[in-house]
Amino acid sequence: MAKYEKDGHIIYHGDALEIMKQEIPDESIDLVFVDPPYNIGKKFADFHDKWSSDAEYTNWAYQWIDECIRILKPTGTMYLMSSTQAMPYFDLYVRDKLTILSRIVWYYDSSGVQAKKYFGSMYEPILHCVKNQKAYCFNANDILVEAKTGAKRKLIDYRGDTPKPYNSKKVAGNVWEFSRVRYRMKEYEEHPSQKPMALLERIIRASSNKGDTVLDPFSGTFTTAAVAKLLGRNSISIEYQDTYIKIGLRRVLGMKEHQGEKLEAVKKNTKIKNGRGVKYEEKSGDLFSVSS
Ligand SMILES: C[S@@+](CC[C@H](N)C(=O)[O-])C[C@H]1O[C@@H](n2cnc3c(N)ncnc32)[C@H](O)[C@@H]1O
Repeated sequence: MAKYEKDGHIIYHGDALEIMKQEIPDESIDLVFVDPPYNIGKKFADFHDKWSSDAEYTNWAYQWIDECIRILKPTGTMYLMSSTQAMPYFDLYVRDKLTILSRIVWYYDSSGVQAKKYFGSMYEPILHCVKNQKAYCFNANDILVEAKTGAKRKLIDYRGDTPKPYNSKKVAGNVWEFSRVRYRMKEYEEHPSQKPMALLERIIRASSNKGDTVLDPFSGTFTTAAVAKLLGRNSISIEYQDTYIKIGLRRVLGMKEHQGEKLEAVKKNTKIKNGRGVKYEEKSGDLFSVSS
């Protein structure tokens, strides 16, 4: 196990379960975001995300779910992602221990080849859970979205003494549409399951305040910590794979070198247009046009 730390951001290199057990005190974390291996056969550097059975996978998963619950403050919130296949197990397990406030669907546009013999997967489920449904953080005003009424003109509310335009902002519902991270985006890192900064922006803004601590036990490209940092939160990240730790050291701690190796962002190919190189650039959220 190795630990790296700078300005309120901690990165642990090692196994999530062991590190949570050994290093993270009871009831010390405001927000946990968990995006584990999904047991669907992806390759994460040297790690193959496939257990021999659902029972083996859930035995392992229930251990880290218990740890996440132990380290959450009494007012804390956990967001738990999973594959559509595994989510029923997680939902049944978690609902006995926490209050599930929302069952969120992260819906994305299709890309590449879609299934031809069944309906292709276009979403990932997320549980939004709290320890105490009477005392938890939810900053509704920080995550308002435009309410789509379909009307071309501004709708007027005539119910009060004075007519006034309807409020056009609302808290997002439980179907969230964010683009998956694509090669062309500024935030892109080399990882098979990178989550968009815009997704984490909504979660962190809604369920934590400045100065709070956000923990991600399966950090991958360290999206959670990168967004936490931009939003003035502290972070604790855990990741097993050496290749991805280097992304975190660069992206979150701002390190330029590690063990004699230069830490550099992915060098993107450029598109040749009219004989001249044109760099692709795309952004996924308003805040992050200046992303890492
Ligand atoms: C689904 S990905 C997380 C992606 C991340 N949310 C992002 O935005 O990049 C899961 C990550 O868990 C890591 N991992 C797998 N087993 C682990 C373990 N036992 N302890 C810590 N990390 C582990 C994998 O290397 C992989 O990077």
